[in-house]
This record gives sequence, C-alpha cells and structure tokens, in this order.
Amino acid sequence: MSLAAKVTLHQDFTIGEIDPRLYGAFIEHLGRAIYGGIYEPSHSSADENGFRQDVLRLIQELNIPVCRYPGGNFVSGYNWEDGIGPRELRPKRLDLAWRVIETNHFGVNEFIQWCRAAKMEPMMAINLGTRGIDEARNLIEYCNHPAGTAWSDLRRAHGFADPHQIKLWCLGNEMDGSWWQIGHKTAEDYGKLANETAKIMKWVDPGIELVVCGSSNWDMPSFPEWEKTVLEHTYDHVEYISLHSYLGNPENNTPGYLAKTLKMDDFINTIVSTCDYVKAKKRSQKIMYLSFDEWNVWYHSIGKEKTMKPWQIAPPQLEDIYTLEDALVVGLMLITLLKHADRIKIACLAQLVNVIAPIMTRTDGACWRQTIFYPIQQVSRFAKGISLETIVDSPCYEDKNFGETPYLDTIATYDPDDELLNIFAVNRSLEDQLMVEYRLYGFSKSKFFEHLVLNHQDIKAVNSEENPNNVLPVKQRPTEIQDDKLQLTLSPCSWNMIRFGKAD
Ligand code: AHR
Repeated sequence: MSLAAKVTLHQDFTIGEIDPRLYGAFIEHLGRAIYGGIYEPSHSSADENGFRQDVLRLIQELNIPVCRYPGGNFVSGYNWEDGIGPRELRPKRLDLAWRVIETNHFGVNEFIQWCRAAKMEPMMAINLGTRGIDEARNLIEYCNHPAGTAWSDLRRAHGFADPHQIKLWCLGNEMDGSWWQIGHKTAEDYGKLANETAKIMKWVDPGIELVVCGSSNWDMPSFPEWEKTVLEHTYDHVEYISLHSYLGNPENNTPGYLAKTLKMDDFINTIVSTCDYVKAKKRSQKIMYLSFDEWNVWYHSIGKEKTMKPWQIAPPQLEDIYTLEDALVVGLMLITLLKHADRIKIACLAQLVNVIAPIMTRTDGACWRQTIFYPIQQVSRFAKGISLETIVDSPCYEDKNFGETPYLDTIATYDPDDELLNIFAVNRSLEDQLMVEYRLYGFSKSKFFEHLVLNHQDIKAVNSEENPNNVLPVKQRPTEIQDDKLQLTLSPCSWNMIRFGKAD
C-alpha cells in the first residue's frame, strides 16, 4: 500500500539562519571515548601526540565544527590541574561519576591540540559540582590569558606560548541531577553560583560566551521551573541555556519510538517560552539562545554498568550498537533541531567515539561507522545556510503517548551562497511507502543532484567491525522539479536526503 502526503515551502519563508555549531559533538572522560578512542599512543595510526589518525579521518567526514569537553557527569568531580604538566607527574584519581580510575594522561592541553588537529572549536565545561568561582577563574586564566601571570605563564611553561582562546564555556553539567550529579544543587543555589562564576569568568576574558545548565531532561520534576529560576539569576551574564535529550526504545515499540521526537519538539518550545518569559519579566532586549549540548539515542547499554567491576582504567562503557531504527530517530532529531534553527545555535551529539557514538573503535585495531553516522554526516555536510518553513500535510497514526503522529517528517534547507536546496525526510511507516508531492516555490530552476536513502529490510540491522557496510546510504533514481512540483517516493522506514543545485 502507498500513503500520500504534501509539503509546501517557499524560498522566502524562512525559520532562521543555521549556525554551523548546530553540528557539534561531545567527548567526555568516559569509557573508551578518549583512551582507546581518540587517544591511543600505541596504536599504529597514532601521530606524535598519540591521536589516532584513522579516527580523526572519520571525524573529519562528519564535519564537526565544535566539541564539548571534558564532561558530562565527569566534570562535576574533575580537577583540571590534574591533567596539565608532565604526564609522569599527573595523579591517578577515582572518577566517582563513572566508578573508574582516571589517569589524567589526557587533559586540557591535549584536548586543545586534538581540536586543532580535528579542525574543531573547543567548548569547555567547568566544574560547578565540587568546585566554583576560584577554579573557574584560574582555568580561564590558564587557557585564555596571554602571559605575565602565574597561571598563564604556567601554560607557557607547559609548551603553549599562545593562549588557547577558548570562546565557549559551560557552567557545570546537569546540576539538577540530584541522584547522579556530584555536587547537585537546587535551582536557587545553582543560579546564584552560576551567575557569580559567569561574571568573574567574563572579567578574566570578556570575549567568551557562556552556557548555563537547563534541565537534564523533560522528565525532571523541576522542569521548567528550574529554567525560570536559573535564568532569573543569570540572564544578563549568559548567552545560552542548555538542553539534553536521549531517546530510546526499551519497550521495543518502533512506532512509539519514532514518535518521541514530537516530545523533543515540545521540550524545545517550552524552553523557548520560559526564556522569553524571563526576558519579558526582566524587560530585557536580549534573546536567550539554546545550546542542545547533549542529544542522541541511548538505551542499548543502560544497566550494563551495574555489573561492571569498579575502578578499572578506561573499560568499555555506554557502547551502544545502533540499528537502522536508531538512525531514523537520529535523523528525526536532526530534523527537529533544524526546525528550531532560529533559537538553537549550538547542539552537541553525545558522544563522538565509542561512548554512545557514531564512530566505534577496537583498541589496537580498526574503526568503523555506526548506522547513525550517515544522517549526521549528510546533515552536517549539506544543511547549511537557512532552514525553511515546511508546511506538511501527512497522514498520521495514533500513538498512545504522543497522539497524532505524522508518517512524514521533513525539513528543507537553502544555501543562498551556492544556491543549494536540500530536503531531509523520514517515512515513519513500517510497511507503506510514502508518495510525497513537494511544492517548492522559488526553486523551479534547481537541478537535481542526488537522492540518498538509508534503509534495510531488517529495522534492527547494525554495522559491525566484521560487517561495517551492512547499513549504507544508497542512491535512488533521479527526479526533477517541474512547475515548482517534485514527486518523491519514500520507502517504508527510511531516512532520505534529496539535493538540488544551480541549473547550468
Ligand atoms: O553522555 C552521557 C551522560 O549523559 C553525561 O555524562 C551526562 O551529562 C548525561 O547524563
């Protein structure tokens, strides 16, 4: 059977400009993300800094512009000073967040070197769990002050004459997480601390941008009161508020799983409204932007850490193996982010390597792309410029949690510089193909480039070291825009990218 849907868009009807930082990522001191992932001095592909070049090549395919570090939950117990200076003098510590031993062989300077090698901007989180203003001002002085003070001269003595110029900083991590965050705080206490820390960090370097912690997820009992209280304290000193979302299918209910991005959309709308409420209350002219600095699918590995022997060094943790179904959800999450390009200016896929990641490695061995790699790669490479309003008229199914769920979810982006139009679409139907008529006003002269589809007869299909190309994007038949109309057929359970460019 076939389903039919209609989509209308116009070159001039825009949502907003897409900030390239929407395609950021996150790497934490957790599991094999760093040790055995991006940093493995004994690996055959490692450079003189110990950075795996095979992994760097895959990261470059993903075109990631910014990377958040060092946590996550890890940062709330982290002493950044442990990770600087000669390696042999760096202390081993208990990491209480993930119940492992941290060797500190990789620290802030290595992270900056790795970011430069990967052509990414660093986004540094500070510890507001066990520490506070003093640590933050010292860290920013160490990183960003040119020279002539104790901390900046120490950086120079460590071999970094030029300041790191880290522009983006996160004021702690998930500080509302009472049962999992080291040094959790009430909204009131966190708001006051974040505000004072923000103020002092900007005294050290007025050029920085700051992200204050929003709720850890939409199920937190304190959401959205947390955002309101925290912003009432910090509005004047921060540029962004954070959001985190992890989706999963523990119920093994695919239609319900694919509907979960409706809730993500709702979450974003509520946070935008809360920001605007505080803006109005403060009679402020400033717009608060959103940093969706942790998002992904995470559920396959949940619970496994309970059986893990504690206090190991870099054991495998959170190593989700992703299915085609997960790749569709990641695609739907990307579409949701693009629908809010006017307010979400930063987003970080959590995480990048081995830990809930698009890239997997074997320590001392190969690396490969998981299923979720492909929608991320396609969007980060091609969805540039402007996000366009898409008016969708799609048949729906009824989901018990989210109600009417359209089979079609889609977004279009337009890059005016190169006159490139890109359409991204997911068909949520498990059985039926979807015939979609796109009315593309203003694009009648665009020329078809390609239609790539990601699907598989088995929705649970995965890529592995032995079978790395099991789930791959495949080219579809060419199509054309005629009289502003484009007819597309979307296979059941598929992620699609359709690209158009300048006519000759
Ligand atoms: O990304 C894994 C963890 O998820 C992060 O450490 C934490 O911030 C979130 O709960």
